[in-house]
Amino acid sequence: MKIVKKNNYKPEEHAAVVIPVFQGTTLAAIWQEFPELKFLDRDKKIKGASSEAQVCHSLQQQRLFLLVGAGRRGSLPDARKLACKTMTLLRENRVSKALVYFIPPGPYSHGYLVNLVDYLHLNNYRFDRYKRKKNKAVDRIQLVLKKPAALSNNDLKAREIIQRQVTLARDLVNEIPAKITPDSLVQVFSDSAGKNHLQLAVYRKKELEELGLNGLLAVGASSCCSPALLTLSHIPKSYTRTVALVGKGITFDAGGLNLKPGNSMEEMKSDMAGAAAVLGILNTVAALELPIRVIGFAALAENMPGRRAYKPGDIITYANKKTVEIVNTDAEGRLILADALIMASRQKPDMIIELSTLTGAIITALGDSYAGLFCRNKKLNAGLLQAAENCGELLWQMPLPIEYRESITSKIADLKNANYKGASSIKAGLFLHEFVGNIPFAHLDIAGTAFLSKPNFCLAAEGATGFGVRLLIEYLKNLA
Ligand code: BES
Ligand code: MN
Ligand code: ZN
Repeated sequence: MKIVKKNNYKPEEHAAVVIPVFQGTTLAAIWQEFPELKFLDRDKKIKGASSEAQVCHSLQQQRLFLLVGAGRRGSLPDARKLACKTMTLLRENRVSKALVYFIPPGPYSHGYLVNLVDYLHLNNYRFDRYKRKKNKAVDRIQLVLKKPAALSNNDLKAREIIQRQVTLARDLVNEIPAKITPDSLVQVFSDSAGKNHLQLAVYRKKELEELGLNGLLAVGASSCCSPALLTLSHIPKSYTRTVALVGKGITFDAGGLNLKPGNSMEEMKSDMAGAAAVLGILNTVAALELPIRVIGFAALAENMPGRRAYKPGDIITYANKKTVEIVNTDAEGRLILADALIMASRQKPDMIIELSTLTGAIITALGDSYAGLFCRNKKLNAGLLQAAENCGELLWQMPLPIEYRESITSKIADLKNANYKGASSIKAGLFLHEFVGNIPFAHLDIAGTAFLSKPNFCLAAEGATGFGVRLLIEYLKNLA
């Protein structure tokens, strides 16, 4: 979808006009811009609350008018809701070109408009590859702003670049598990590397054995594909900082021998959302030419039961000599991430940020709209929280008490991977912290936010969200 901005418009070019109605927007102000809406006075139903809407026809002009509740002026959360409602209505009414007309005085802040644009794009997405009847998407939106300076054409271009990568991540997560395997993802990463001038290194079974990346080898042992560790790097001509990103890429999480019960397995094609986000971020960082060295790590494996499957009772020895007792083969994420974190630490980056659909418990704690943030570094923690507020991919800070550490230790090995007895998201976070040494580290548990089983308050479609791409681009842009 193309989004453009103007400070005036030609009425005949648009079949539909969206008018955001804020708390306090008066009918008189609307009439001043659109005299044809005078008939609204008799039944003004809309007061400006988010999710309110009134759809009507202007007979003279043969145009559809959508008055959409826009909440508080300047509120970023309300901008997201406005965009969500707007796109839902445009799609329902099969509109392909629309005008969004802000009655003066706006709001016109940069942050407001960026959020509006992002969520218009986000809510135009549907995963309909397998639907014979496809619901038509919106082609073009023109924003009419009396003060258009707050949003430059470069901003619009950048948001489009970012959005393309969010869509890539969503498509990969939504795609059926028959098509997404470690093999096919290696191919996708290498296509991206070629297109975007990123450097790719691929470690498969042989290299993993040489490097002692035994977490990946254990978890992936029963899959038809060999597991893989990929590094995709953006190396600008000059830079002062290096950021390592790590993504969990379990292409399907059956649970292994501790097979997942009933419908717990239903959404487990989404267990590679962290790796998909890392790919999207690297592509964006390259396209925007950010002056930071960014090294993306994707740990890829399929967690299946079978003859060769790793077993409860096994002990894995890691490349840093730490040993982990396997208590439950369904706590596989932390096992493959440990390998990737060891490799990332060896690059001595200034920080490591890791994204994973790690625990069901984070969904219980935070639902589908906040990801858990586990970070001991104040600056990194604050930077991520700020980026989250700015872009709408929300984070909630979780504790990492050392007092809980003893519950992740094993009687026969250094650590164990499960049976922690409560606070399992936190203890999973503590487990990961064991593999990064002193490097500033943030773990984002995106199990709730990466894949929606139903729409939430700013995303109208269920399924993959691309969570993490916009968040970390926002973070890295602020860092640069
Ligand atoms: N991939 C799952 C976590 C998950 C659950 C993601 C629901 C998205 C939606 C992870 O590998 C897992 O199975 N975690 C277990 C760990 C337990 C066995 C210690 C969990 O959270 O139940
Ligand atoms: Mn699992
Ligand atoms: Zn998993």
